[in-house]
Amino acid sequence: MIVQIEGLRKIYEGKQCVTAVDGIDLAVRAGELYGLLGPNGAGKTTTISICTTRALPTAGRVRIAGVDVVGSPALARRGIGVVPQYNTLDRACTIFENIYFHCLYFGFSAAASRQRTEELLAQFHLAERTKAYPAQLSGGLAQRVQIARAIAHYPKVLFLDEPSAGLDPQSRIAMWDAVRGLREQGITVVLTTHYMEEADALCDRVAIIDHGKILVEDSPAALKSSVGAETIYELDLRHPESLDALQQQICALQGVASVEKLPSGLRVYARTADGLLPEIVKTANHHGLRDISITEPSLEMVFIRLTGRDLRE
Ligand SMILES: Nc1ncnc2c1ncn2[C@@H]1O[C@H](COP(=O)(O)OP(=O)(O)OP(=O)(O)O)[C@@H](O)[C@H]1O
Ligand SMILES: [Mg+2]
Repeated sequence: MIVQIEGLRKIYEGKQCVTAVDGIDLAVRAGELYGLLGPNGAGKTTTISICTTRALPTAGRVRIAGVDVVGSPALARRGIGVVPQYNTLDRACTIFENIYFHCLYFGFSAAASRQRTEELLAQFHLAERTKAYPAQLSGGLAQRVQIARAIAHYPKVLFLDEPSAGLDPQSRIAMWDAVRGLREQGITVVLTTHYMEEADALCDRVAIIDHGKILVEDSPAALKSSVGAETIYELDLRHPESLDALQQQICALQGVASVEKLPSGLRVYARTADGLLPEIVKTANHHGLRDISITEPSLEMVFIRLTGRDLRE
């Protein structure tokens, strides 16, 4: 296991004590693309900050490639690349210089730094922007420079904190491709996100984190199948006062696994979709069916089932 987190806790002391990380254990395999998925304030950045030696834990320990990040921070940092949640490019330096100085800082010679920088600028399709300054770049390009800089010293593990926050959909897809490319180079990637689609599309395994605790951890496919349904129907009803009766009738239909109440309708979890839709529509029409939507299980649903809350709230 290349990242090992054991019993990690972080309490921010201040006027009010905040328990940001509340006993996290997790292990990331070498070469894995691992995601921490959770809402605002879940403790994602705090966990990453401790892993990357930017914050000290209150309790517990983190080892990266066997190196304890508290005991040997300088050594640990050699094995770690990090792209923080907010842009940390040096605004006074060009794109080239941002990467070049990073290489020098990590002990490369001037010639090796120049060569490595040029290689990265080509790999990340930045060769035309070498003389640009960070302020002249779009969010997507700036993010790419940050990733290029973060892996310049050949870290074993790259930590990406909310890599697609603030990116437009097209830049997000380009970033996903860049991250998949890193995995092909054998770099282990740990990323945080509150976009369930991102965790689903990118990660081999995902831990869902809330209030500083890990609620579940598995592959996206296994998490989604834990919902226990193949298809989910959401019914919007004109007469929500008769929900109880309708809920019972729909529960009795062949293939229905369970039915949940929504403020103005029902959510129906179906084991199979075969032939069920006409049955549901027929039954619900007697109760003023206004609209019906059909979806597949998502990580969002896993989160809702675990917490009773929406990931986006
Ligand atoms: N330096 C700090 N001092 C005090 N409290 C903090 C500090 N940093 C974070 N917190 C609190 O710790 C909790 C976890 O914050 P953290 O930034 O780790 O969450 P997050 O999952 O990264 O959230 P976001 O999606 O907003 O980035 C929050 O309640 C936050 O307000
Ligand atoms: Mg954060």
